[in-house]
Amino acid sequence: MKNAAPNNAADCVRLVEEELSNHDLFYGHGTDAPGAEAQWLVISVLTAAGFEKITGETKVPEQHLASIKSLLTRRIEEKIPMAYLLNEAWFAGECFFVDERVLVPRSPLAELINNRFEPLLNNTPRTILDLCCGSGCIGLASALAFPDSEVILSDISEQALAVAQINIQRFGLGNRVSTCHSDLFESIEQSFDLILANPPYVSQSEFEQLPAEYHAEPVLGLVSDQEGLEIPMKILAQSAAHLTKKGALILETGYTWPALQQTLPGLPFMWLEFEYGGEGVCCLTAEQLHNHSALLGRKPG
Ligand SMILES: C[S@@+](CC[C@H](N)C(=O)[O-])C[C@H]1O[C@@H](n2cnc3c(N)ncnc32)[C@H](O)[C@@H]1O
Repeated sequence: MKNAAPNNAADCVRLVEEELSNHDLFYGHGTDAPGAEAQWLVISVLTAAGFEKITGETKVPEQHLASIKSLLTRRIEEKIPMAYLLNEAWFAGECFFVDERVLVPRSPLAELINNRFEPLLNNTPRTILDLCCGSGCIGLASALAFPDSEVILSDISEQALAVAQINIQRFGLGNRVSTCHSDLFESIEQSFDLILANPPYVSQSEFEQLPAEYHAEPVLGLVSDQEGLEIPMKILAQSAAHLTKKGALILETGYTWPALQQTLPGLPFMWLEFEYGGEGVCCLTAEQLHNHSALLGRKPG
């Protein structure tokens, strides 16, 4: 790619894909293959430059080709996820602002949101909490899916909340989406019809084995003590007190789900299945969480 002079966008995508494929890179932060990542890079640079209708025939002017090459070099040499280089990530069909202060959105909850959580919920949720919100992608996409809802995005990281604020403004949702700085539920007083959480659930030892791209992300967004289980277990124990009577918790625990199930064999986890990939997301109702409060080590709320 260094000295190549592609004629049009299609050539450019092909050359970027070739170059990406020739290097040892990890895909999983918004795309799953070099071809998709190449397309994303070229289209994003041209879109940011004001191009409106981009086809394979679109000519790529020299200055934009230079930008594409320079971003490609950083992707390859520094192994930075493309989402951070482009300051954007697609989630549930929407484009979010992201940078190194937040995890790159990729939760399978996007599929649930696109389906408006059908058939999981008995009622349309009016109040939603996105616990451990990062960029706010889960809560904001839910706010768009439920136009009458009020949503709180909460995180322990002030830096993440600053990014979530950028996204609240981006979607013009300041009238019904707000942020809350909190260590899990510590500073949260309300109850919600729906609590959504994609918390950290990776053990320290697993984190150390992960590809370089994960090490560009905030460690606070990934690592949880007790072999990844500490934060998911706290969320399970504390959610009932913050759910309305018919409310539900939807919690992502990724590949730690068998360990969680083994630790709490009596809890009636409903593990969800995904058409577009993903695992380890459970749904529990407020009633189930209340009924198993002893097991979860807390007094009924
Ligand atoms: C896996 S990231 C998920 C971000 C976002 N929900 C997403 O799906 O892209 C987990 C987030 O949890 C936050 N976090 C970690 N520990 C927390 C705690 N004790 N209380 C609240 N948030 C926490 C991190 O700052 C990070 O933004």
